[in-house]
Amino acid sequence: MKALLVACVAALGCLAVAVAAISESMSRAEEAAAKIDLPELFEECNETFTTPKATLNYFFSHGRLQNENDYGSKCFIHCLTDRSGEIDSDGNFDVDLIKVMTRRFPNETNIEGLNEMVETCVADRGETDFCERAYGLVSCLIKEKLTRLGHSH
Ligand SMILES: *[C@@H]1O[C@H](CO)[C@@H](O)[C@H](O)[C@H]1NC(C)=O
Ligand SMILES: *[C@@H]1O[C@H](CO)[C@@H](O)[C@H](O)[C@H]1NC(C)=O
Repeated sequence: MKALLVACVAALGCLAVAVAAISESMSRAEEAAAKIDLPELFEECNETFTTPKATLNYFFSHGRLQNENDYGSKCFIHCLTDRSGEIDSDGNFDVDLIKVMTRRFPNETNIEGLNEMVETCVADRGETDFCERAYGLVSCLIKEKLTRLGHSH
């Protein structure tokens, strides 16, 4: 009985540590996201990969570029995710930060299953080219978000 009690307390302790670790990692992501100045990033990235506003508006409202061969615009998207810290220089994703940014961009939206949605979009990435990879991720996130919000395009 005592052994069982000890085991239970130990298990709860582990659970508490795990929950604390998850929320610590999320609050790190929240902090990182709070430092991101999106208008500034758009401006910086536009200096290297000049992309018309209309091209981006189309992308953000459809989840794909009007011209899927527009590699420069895909690199613009990569630049945004790179400068924000969502993707690192090895092409690895910061999944927690992507969750926070997906919830916030372009407006704070609460979508059911947003975390799973982000995990699926991250897991589906097979692209090795960095611009294609970032484009693939953000396309997936926008499409999923639009579908869940009830706008299908
Ligand atoms: C990028 O710069 C060009 C030329 O300066 C401008 O026309 C365009 O609107 C800018 N794009 C964005 C997304 O700000
Ligand atoms: C979301 O953001 C867009 C552009 O920033 C704005 O036009 C729109 O009104 C916002 N929607 C809501 C529901 O706040």
